[in-house]
Amino acid sequence: MRPSRREWLRVGLHAAVAPAIMIPQARAYDIGEIEAKLAKGNGIDGVTKDDLPTPSLLLDLDAFEANVQRMASHSAEAELELRPHAKTHKCSEIAKRQVGAGALGVCVATIREAEAMAAAGIGGLLLTSESVGLNKIHRLIRLCERRPDTMAVVDHIDNARQLDEAARASGVRLNVLIDVDPLGRRTGVPPGSKAVSLAEAVDRLSGLRLRGVHGYCGASSHVKGFAERKAHSAKYMAPVLESHAAMLKKGLPVEIMSGASTGTYNIDSDLKGMTELQVGSYALMDVDYRAIGGRGGDTYDDFRPALHVLATVISKNHDDIATVDAGLKAFATDRDFGPEVARPTGLTYAFRGDEHGALMLADSEREIVLGDKIELVVPHCDPNVNLYDRMYCVRGDHVQQVWEIDARGHV
Ligand SMILES: Cc1ncc(COP(=O)(O)O)c(C=O)c1O
Repeated sequence: MRPSRREWLRVGLHAAVAPAIMIPQARAYDIGEIEAKLAKGNGIDGVTKDDLPTPSLLLDLDAFEANVQRMASHSAEAELELRPHAKTHKCSEIAKRQVGAGALGVCVATIREAEAMAAAGIGGLLLTSESVGLNKIHRLIRLCERRPDTMAVVDHIDNARQLDEAARASGVRLNVLIDVDPLGRRTGVPPGSKAVSLAEAVDRLSGLRLRGVHGYCGASSHVKGFAERKAHSAKYMAPVLESHAAMLKKGLPVEIMSGASTGTYNIDSDLKGMTELQVGSYALMDVDYRAIGGRGGDTYDDFRPALHVLATVISKNHDDIATVDAGLKAFATDRDFGPEVARPTGLTYAFRGDEHGALMLADSEREIVLGDKIELVVPHCDPNVNLYDRMYCVRGDHVQQVWEIDARGHV
């Protein structure tokens, strides 16, 4: 029997090159059919990676679930709470799975993320960026009305007073952590007497409820080498932890001490005084984190790369190079390196413009032909996710679910 046009497309141009081996396979779906299946809510049974438009974002469910489980087990063993950072994935379906595995909520970096998580029923939110300006403050207070367990951070008395006034005007009490700066780097009150004084002042404001300290040392997260990273984090977290201890000594209600990153999760867990981990990238991983080195060697493989961009070979006119349809717009470009090819093995990638990337084929495990699907590990997961509307969740070749990146966007 002659294969249908779709079956021909699925078999692809391998078959065009060698028609004798063309074997009709399972039914193929185009994107219109996939959308119709999704709209009907009937799941997407039968859809495979080959059916997906490219470039697309893939979530490898086996790797993702292993990552979530590993971090959950680690925090349970370390007797620390886990409040993963949702800035990484901006996806409430992922947050639900993290909470399902034992997390007490999620951190968020923007009020938009907080609103999206709350709308999806996620509680225990900690907004780790300062809320300055009427827009953010009003939205935070609205959120607090709906979700009284929401927490925010402050690093300045003027902002604390604004939050206090807005909370009292709405009849709510806003939970607050003092953001203490480990490394003079981004936000946070300097550690020591300034941090303690701010905590005392916040504790006196009746619209705010002081709950603890936020101390995130992003500068430690990507220090190369486990021993070097450990020394870095211990050095810069020490003043934060001392500030927290000083607040406790004064009887301030600072039961929470939150911090850590994917790079320091098993380092900061040993720091005396920590009560919870706010790790983010571990769920998805990226090229950047793979390169920091782990306890056991040069590759950091505590967590598996779960996030890939799926691309298609759209031009192949040379033996040593092919072109895919994923370029600068398909990947975060904030690092001085690009994505790495996960499948097929032996290929290297270089940007070739907005919509194009080059594959160097010299060490390819197999012949690359037009229409081939290529999977690439993203350079930096957080900004990469923010480029896409959805992720296709796959197990092996099969697409099992489609998750909206519902907290996407900046406002
Ligand atoms: C405040 C804060 N906490 C936690 C994290 C999570 O860090 P990572 O993704 O390295 O685990 C980030 C990431 O940038 C962050 O900005």
